[in-house]
Amino acid sequence: MSIKNSSAIAAAIRNPLAALKFKLGNKSAMHEAVILDSVKHLWGKNADLKPWKEALKELNNNELIAPNENNFQTIVGNNLNTSFGKWIYCCIRVIKPESVIETGVAHGYSSWIMLNALKKNNKGTLYSIDLPNHDTNSDYNFKDQPTTGWMVPETLKERWKLNLGDAKILLPQILKEIGTLNIFFHDSDHSYEHMKYEFETSHPYITNGGLLLSDDVHKNVAFAEYVYKNKLSALQFNKGGAAIISK
Ligand SMILES: C[S@@+](CC[C@H](N)C(=O)[O-])C[C@H]1O[C@@H](n2cnc3c(N)ncnc32)[C@H](O)[C@@H]1O
Repeated sequence: MSIKNSSAIAAAIRNPLAALKFKLGNKSAMHEAVILDSVKHLWGKNADLKPWKEALKELNNNELIAPNENNFQTIVGNNLNTSFGKWIYCCIRVIKPESVIETGVAHGYSSWIMLNALKKNNKGTLYSIDLPNHDTNSDYNFKDQPTTGWMVPETLKERWKLNLGDAKILLPQILKEIGTLNIFFHDSDHSYEHMKYEFETSHPYITNGGLLLSDDVHKNVAFAEYVYKNKLSALQFNKGGAAIISK
């Protein structure tokens, strides 16, 4: 049980060539090094890296269905220029989940990433939860902007169930309805109390070998406490966290 630091600095020390390429403007090599290192940490040194490399190749080849566009600047943390954004895509491509829940949709960037992966898998449903047209994060500036999740194009909606309401109410309802869950992704209210609530509520439903992912784990100790309490193997990207569920 440990939380490994998968930040770019830590990966740079282990992968000097990728670090050099990063310095020269090629982020992909560094992201790939971070992700493959992370896989070995969570699944062991002998983990099969081939499907992860294939998923990374899809990203490098720009194989994703494009998001809807708008004429305002979209601010998102988990975008595909970060190792955590790529990690989210790869996890879904490799694990091939039946069910994924995310809390916190905003413009729908992370939903768009995950739905692209589910579409390629030709399997699985993403259940997303957000407050209706409300954004607690002022950086996102939802005022006068279109609806929650507007970035997700029609072609990706067949595997999407968007639920508008408070995660405190909807999360337990959805979990009860679907029974089991393969991947949980937190990106809603990043207060200690709320993160703790979402981790504890979803944990009993996540299948053995499934994943709990969370953005903004650096903001408080909720993720660290959850990992230690449940004796999980976990890692932290710059802001994002990932824990593999073993029961
Ligand atoms: C950081 S943004 C989500 C960003 C999104 N995952 C992305 O990648 O673009 C946080 C979102 O959480 C939502 N939120 C905050 N508190 C919530 C709650 N109690 N229940 C549901 N959603 C909540 C906000 O409305 C906001 O849209």
